This record gives sequence, structure tokens and C-alpha cells, in this order.
Amino acid sequence: MGTRRPRILAALAAVSLAAACSPGDDGGDGGATGYPEQNITIVVPFSAGGPTDTVTRMIADPMAAALGGKIVVQNVEGAGGTVAAGQVARAEPDGYTVLMHHIGMSTAPALYKDLGYQPLEDFATIGLVTEVPMTVVARPGFPPATLADLTAYVKANQDKVTLANAGRGAASHLCGLLFQSAAGVELQEVPYQGTGPALTDLVGGQVDVMCDQTTNTSGQITAGKIKAYAVTTPERVASLPDVPTTTEAGMPQLQVSVWHGLYVPAGTPPEIVQKLSGALQKALADQAVIDQMAELGTAPVTAADATPEAHRAQLEEQIQTWGKVIADAGVQAS
Ligand code: MLT
Repeated sequence: MGTRRPRILAALAAVSLAAACSPGDDGGDGGATGYPEQNITIVVPFSAGGPTDTVTRMIADPMAAALGGKIVVQNVEGAGGTVAAGQVARAEPDGYTVLMHHIGMSTAPALYKDLGYQPLEDFATIGLVTEVPMTVVARPGFPPATLADLTAYVKANQDKVTLANAGRGAASHLCGLLFQSAAGVELQEVPYQGTGPALTDLVGGQVDVMCDQTTNTSGQITAGKIKAYAVTTPERVASLPDVPTTTEAGMPQLQVSVWHGLYVPAGTPPEIVQKLSGALQKALADQAVIDQMAELGTAPVTAADATPEAHRAQLEEQIQTWGKVIADAGVQAS
């Protein structure tokens, strides 16, 4: 630990942060004509009530309406999202099992030695969904008032301050590492199965600090139930106008936004991938979805970004970027 963590922190300090299927005896369209003929399950790799779950439930009904079917959301927690991704990678490639995942899809290959799946080989991309700013937040009553105060406080109390996250490779874990790197500290990390339950503990005062997406923290910040020190994007978030950016607050190196995408197992018929992508694009253009996202500090991506091709290119780039950072840092998960 003594040599590993400084390397992790030093490396992270530098970061500003479809497969074809043979036609069967289905008329040659891979079964897409009647699709969907049964419920579609979107697997969420973190706890119910957390940010990934929230975004998934926002788009599930409009996507189902566009497809003329029903979508069920299932939470499969564990190991920073890799349990769910492994489960979907091994599912039937028939379009009925879909994965919602985020930036963790690109960090897992470098973080986990025995991952059991490869994002680019074992999945077909459906499209990007949204990019969510993060917030640096703390429990009510936590002494520091500003991000500069927080930095000084954690430096003086690093053996006591607890930092919640959703497991290795989760967005909260990566953002927390960047924060520790920028502050030059090593805090006591407390892993959860998602930042939904972590936020409950933060509000309850069981943990001190967390780095988490606005889709989870906005309501509690606005209600004054937790302290917000900064948002991790270059611009302030419209729904949180009083919260400064990390740059304004004196920590410009802490820049993270958390992209989310949809995936199906490789081998899913391209016609079905296209149907799902079209439904995603319709959901993202839905005014109710736009309004709900805006209230939580984010926005749908454009239709051009919500395509299989655009998101695959992004995923390739992100795997390269994070793979290098993580290899340089020497971070590993078991
Ligand atoms: C969640 O849904 O719990 C989060 O996306 C976890 C995280 O990545 O921090």
C-alpha cells in the first residue's frame, strides 16, 4: 500500500478526466420484424435508487413505447458494475437483455485482471445516453465550508475522514481518486454496491465525503440535506447555480463527467440493435426525459451520439485513455 497508492494518485493527477449475426430461419432479419415479442430487461450494474438506476428508469418507458413493448429494469450489483456486465455478456444475443453501463465499461479491462468479458468483443453498442457532472459532497455538519477548507481539513485529518464510493471502477471511485490526488491525501474508502445506499449513509452521517453524480445528489443538495463543495465540470450546473465549479473553487485538475451507454451481447442481430438505438433516440428527444434530466443537472445526448457507431468509437477511445492511466497508476482490483 505504501508504494502503490502514491503511484495511483500521481498518475491520476495527470488526468483531466456490433456484431453481425447470421440470419436464421426468421425471414433473414435476425428476428427483428416481430421484435419485441416479450419483455426486454435492462440490467443496471448498481443499486436501485442510485444515479445509473435513475437514468435507466427515465428512458425505460419512452423506449418501451417507441418499441411497442415492455421494459423491465433489473439491478445486478457488485464489483464496481462488472458482475452485471459479465452477466449480460453471457446472455442470449436476442435483444431481450440490455445493459446500461457508464464510464466503468471502459475502466474495467485495465482494473480487473480476471474480468471474464471484453467490452469491445463481447458487446454491441446501442448508443450513448447522457453525460453527467459529478459533485463533491459531504455529510451534514461536516466542518469544512468550502472546497479549499475541505482540502485543508482532509489533509489534517486523513486518518479519520471516510470517503464513500460504489466499488473499484465506479465513477465515484475514480472521482474520489482524483480528489485525493489533487488534495494530496489518502482517505479511508468505504465501498458500497452503489451510490444510492452511500448517499443514504452520507445524509445519515455514517460517512463523511463522497464524489457522486448530480443525478443522485441534486435533490439532497437542493433540500439542504448534504453539503456541496463543487461540480466537476468546466461550467456550473444550471440546476445547482450556487455550487461553484472545481476550477472556481481552486481544484481545476478535478474534471470528470460520467457518460452512460446501452449495450447488448455481441451477436445480437444488427436489425435489433438498430431498433433499440432508434428507440433510445426517441426517448432522448422526449420532453419529459429532457425536463427530468435538466432537473438533475444533466441532458440527453444528441441523436448523432446515440448511435451504435458513435458510441463504439467513444468506447474504444475511452478504453485506450483509461487503460493507459490505470496501467501507469498500477491500480488493480481482484
Ligand atoms: C450508481 O448507480 O450507484 C453509480 O453510478 C455508482 C458509481 O459509479 O459511482
